[in-house]
Amino acid sequence: MFDINTITRKNILNMQAYSSARDEFKGKATIWLDANENPNASNLNRYPDPLQLRLKASVSKIKNVPLEKIFVGNGSDEAIDLLFRAFCEPGVSKAYIFPPTYGMYKVSAAINNIDLVEVPLTETFELPTSQKIIPNLKSDGLVFICSPNNPTGNSTDSDRIKEIASNFKGLVVVDEAYIDFSTHKSAITLLQEIPNLVVLQTFSKAYGLAGARVGTAFASPEIISILNKIKPPYNINSLSISAVLNVISNKESVDEQIDEIILERNRLRVAVSNLTCVTKIFPSDANFLLVEFIDSESIFTELISQGIVVRNRGFQIKNCFRITIGTKDENEKLMNVLNEIVL
Ligand SMILES: Cc1ncc(COP(=O)(O)O)c(C=O)c1O
Repeated sequence: MFDINTITRKNILNMQAYSSARDEFKGKATIWLDANENPNASNLNRYPDPLQLRLKASVSKIKNVPLEKIFVGNGSDEAIDLLFRAFCEPGVSKAYIFPPTYGMYKVSAAINNIDLVEVPLTETFELPTSQKIIPNLKSDGLVFICSPNNPTGNSTDSDRIKEIASNFKGLVVVDEAYIDFSTHKSAITLLQEIPNLVVLQTFSKAYGLAGARVGTAFASPEIISILNKIKPPYNINSLSISAVLNVISNKESVDEQIDEIILERNRLRVAVSNLTCVTKIFPSDANFLLVEFIDSESIFTELISQGIVVRNRGFQIKNCFRITIGTKDENEKLMNVLNEIVL
């Protein structure tokens, strides 16, 4: 039986959370002299709501998740770091990742002095067999499953998530930063049946708000209340809260952009596949394509010289780089340059 008290660090369980002025007063008031703010009204002279309740109500509606199962972070990167701080004992717990995958899991593990166990994906970038994963899951801590995975672009089936979670004492974190571009169902639907599951999503990708730095974690109310306990009091600023509320109220426009990006992804795939310098294009459920070239380094250098920056992943996956799907115009310019390199 999963027990939050056994996986949370003792110092976190025992500490008292900071109680801000805006946490303590819940009633109606007209004069606010409790937070040492500048009294001259502007749209930013007051501290934001520490628990972002209006924002969470809006997220709750579009994600169909109750408020108490939602954490909002300064990007999902903040949620990743807080998960380490709350649920990994430095020098004792471990974090498990399946490389090649998103780089921040390793960085956050290092910052928090947590041993990292790397179990590589298969040649086709699937999770390894259970026999290769389960015996490794000896310590508690965190398992990260990035789905769709960055930089490979493919997704993990929910059966694999369930299997890993049921064989692990710690938390399984499914990072769904790219889920809006995927036909796979979100792991949010598994929250009810998997108590040790955390699902990360973000407003940085499909919702077009990378500059606002807002990400979400969905999990049991017990896990969420620990994250709330240790987060900085005002981790989401007022401008970002407004930006997310605004974009959610224009959800149809987000959906249209997602459709367009997927259409462009398909168009770019066909165009890139006609290049003789390309040896492979991997399947993608995300807003990028992972492409293997005969000689990625020289093409990367040529693109840079033409002012086009793609993400070189050659150190992780030989001769590959990751191309984000741009606008129709940007993708056409990229193709023009690539076509010229080949000629
Ligand atoms: C898989 C994955 N998770 C999380 C993030 C971070 O997202 P955020 O902007 O919400 O911090 C990224 C950003 O590239 C990502 O690729």
